[in-house]
Amino acid sequence: MKPTTRPRNPNFSSGPCAKRPGWSVAALEDALTGRSHRAKPGKAKLAEVIDRSRAILGTPDDYRLGIVPASDTGAVEMALWSLLGPRGVDVLAWESFGKGWVTDITKQLKLEDTRVIEADYGRLPDLTQVDFTRDVVFTWNGTTSGVRVPNGDWIAGDRQGLTICDATSAVFAMPVDWAKLDVVTWSWQKVLGGEAAHGMLALSPRAVERLESHSPAWPMPKLFRMTKGGKLNEGIFKGETINTPSMLAVEDALDALKWAEDLGGLDGLIARSEANLAAIGQWVEASPWAGFLASDPATRSCTSICLAVTDPWFQSLTGAKQADAAKAIATHLDLEGIAYDIGAYRDAPPGLRIWGGATVETADIEALMPWLDWAYARVKGAQADAA
Ligand SMILES: Cc1ncc(COP(=O)(O)O)c(C=O)c1O
Repeated sequence: MKPTTRPRNPNFSSGPCAKRPGWSVAALEDALTGRSHRAKPGKAKLAEVIDRSRAILGTPDDYRLGIVPASDTGAVEMALWSLLGPRGVDVLAWESFGKGWVTDITKQLKLEDTRVIEADYGRLPDLTQVDFTRDVVFTWNGTTSGVRVPNGDWIAGDRQGLTICDATSAVFAMPVDWAKLDVVTWSWQKVLGGEAAHGMLALSPRAVERLESHSPAWPMPKLFRMTKGGKLNEGIFKGETINTPSMLAVEDALDALKWAEDLGGLDGLIARSEANLAAIGQWVEASPWAGFLASDPATRSCTSICLAVTDPWFQSLTGAKQADAAKAIATHLDLEGIAYDIGAYRDAPPGLRIWGGATVETADIEALMPWLDWAYARVKGAQADAA
């Protein structure tokens, strides 16, 4: 039987994520379009994004925060290309984005003294292996496996190396331990449901010290350059972007930040996201066919919530057939207009991934759950009929 309640908003994508409830293009009316981003009002809007982000996230006063090109990828790559080299590197990976940073460090930057500390989808690597006399690169929340680090307790407070953290699907949904992080990156298109293209880069005083004392052995494209004559280009951290930003995207980011403030800031955002995880958790507990991909409850993401199919029938299928069946579940829900973009990431084990960041209403998650059962029964029934 088809469920009768439909999610009001079927957007459950893990990026770009759902816009905030009530959003419409009217939110962009005050955008400074057709003007220079270097004019006084343009610069003021860019600085406002930085200031509001900093206030909501509780970024320490002595950390620089800037708007950078090319979304989260741009922010991470700027950091890797600018900072790595003087020390050995420990890079952690437990899903596809972390593995991407491994590739950058080992195959592009070709840093020889690199240790890769890995785990399979669904688990965290052994965090006790990390050596904080070295630089450490990791992802706070692995978006494609739905596994997050539970906190920053495993990171040495008195470390000698820098910690570089891709936190794009964590900030605004999870507390990140700023004192333990020297570089933190994210994009606008994730938890607050902003637009793509722009990234945010936060630097601790120690990261700035490294920037000013170290000259990378490789050429630095203009888009990555954060220093001028060996000194930090402070303008980047006041809204003087390296190249031209979209003032529509800037306006949209401001709208999202103001919405977050109205919810009660970070605590309000975290509560909404955790409620979404709890709603799915309740359903999973009673489900005869689905489970979390993240095996340890302490590591379960409240943003990119990844589900595996545990039903013995599904488990008995070949890998390719499992992938087809999981895709078919997502397709049924897409065609019904119930849920878009909830298939597992292309490199992840077959399953579903439901975004639970703050822009998603818990009522919509609750409405979605019976539809998962409906779609799964259809897929299993069709395969059984065909067999
Ligand atoms: C953990 C992580 N890192 C990096 C990226 C890349 O982000 P962007 O496409 O915004 O550069 C994503 C996007 O989903 C991500 O989840």
